[in-house]
Amino acid sequence: MDSKIYSNLKREYEIKKLQKEEDALSYKNKVFSENEILHKLDEKKNMLAIKSAKLMLISDDITRRIEKENLEIKLKEIDAKIEKELKRIRLSMESFNPKYDCNLCKDTGIIKSKGKYEICSCFNQALINETYKQSNMKKLDEENFETFDIGYYSKKVDKEKYGVNKSPFEVIENIKNIAYKFATNLDNKSVNNLMFIGNTGLGKTFLANAIANEAIKNGKTVVYQTAPILMDKIMDYRFSYDKTSNEKEQYNKIFEVDLLIIDDLGTETMTNNKFTELFKIINTRLLDGKKILISTNLTLNELYKRYEERVLSRIIGNFNICRFIGEDIRLKKKSYKKNS
Ligand SMILES: Nc1ncnc2c1ncn2[C@@H]1O[C@H](COP(=O)(O)OP(=O)(O)O)[C@@H](O)[C@H]1O
Ligand SMILES: [Mg+2]
Ligand SMILES: [Zn+2]
Repeated sequence: MDSKIYSNLKREYEIKKLQKEEDALSYKNKVFSENEILHKLDEKKNMLAIKSAKLMLISDDITRRIEKENLEIKLKEIDAKIEKELKRIRLSMESFNPKYDCNLCKDTGIIKSKGKYEICSCFNQALINETYKQSNMKKLDEENFETFDIGYYSKKVDKEKYGVNKSPFEVIENIKNIAYKFATNLDNKSVNNLMFIGNTGLGKTFLANAIANEAIKNGKTVVYQTAPILMDKIMDYRFSYDKTSNEKEQYNKIFEVDLLIIDDLGTETMTNNKFTELFKIINTRLLDGKKILISTNLTLNELYKRYEERVLSRIIGNFNICRFIGEDIRLKKKSYKKNS
């Protein structure tokens, strides 16, 4: 692993964690200073803390113990009053917990599992994003299952145009369900890999992002890349003589991550070497039972013309094909804007 990327990220995590904790504390201070009841109770608590420190000075064991118990009772009473007042203003002490990005590791990047320390999946994913410069995944906040709007798909059946007896709306409803099940069942061997097929502007990349987002949310690691960039990276790696450890790491991730998303398959320039590499990746992942999502603007016919039949059949046989139909949403969005 590239130690520079690693140490930079570690630092970023430390800063982020501190920031979140500071934010939480200053929020608590703000609430307590603006509310008279809370402010007074907090002052009392501080007094008790001082008294508690002074207990150490009492030499008589029994007296000290009794005093200590007294203080603890008082402290509990004050805490109860604080909770009561917080509840009145619709808050609780939990409102002042830091809002970590990752609840698993509390933004430390490390989790303890079965007595051992492990790197948290969020940290692994951040490393992947860093090494792959997955800036194209930035849209994840915007493109998720909640924001995927099926209102853009017509409810009219057009068998002549689309060749199916279902409306684009019905089709996308079904695909969305399949996609969600896929995203939340990456470890489930009985759930098939996915292939999105359809014209441009039908939401394939959007839904791929939604899947990536959901998977990462559930602690899975994802490499998302368009076919041209992915293939270039792979070819660079395969035919370079001195490979850095970072390059090796990056290459291995393609095989290791829980989900590999290859977007826009068919837009890369094809050579025999590339084809062999692509097949190797897909085949290895299939054998390891690791999920793949492929998206393409080509039709099945066009795919068969472009790739070797024997190989493509093997791929197709292991994928659940989702055919997107409807009208270009990019254009629809534009005309909505014009009309509004
Ligand atoms: N279901 C949807 N809800 C909202 N916006 C969508 C939806 N599907 C696609 N879009 C938007 O339409 C445009 C094209 O979608 P995209 O996913 O890139 O299509 P494709 O990958 O099929 O070419 C993008 O700007 C995207 O954000
Ligand atoms: Mg796309
Ligand atoms: Zn984490």
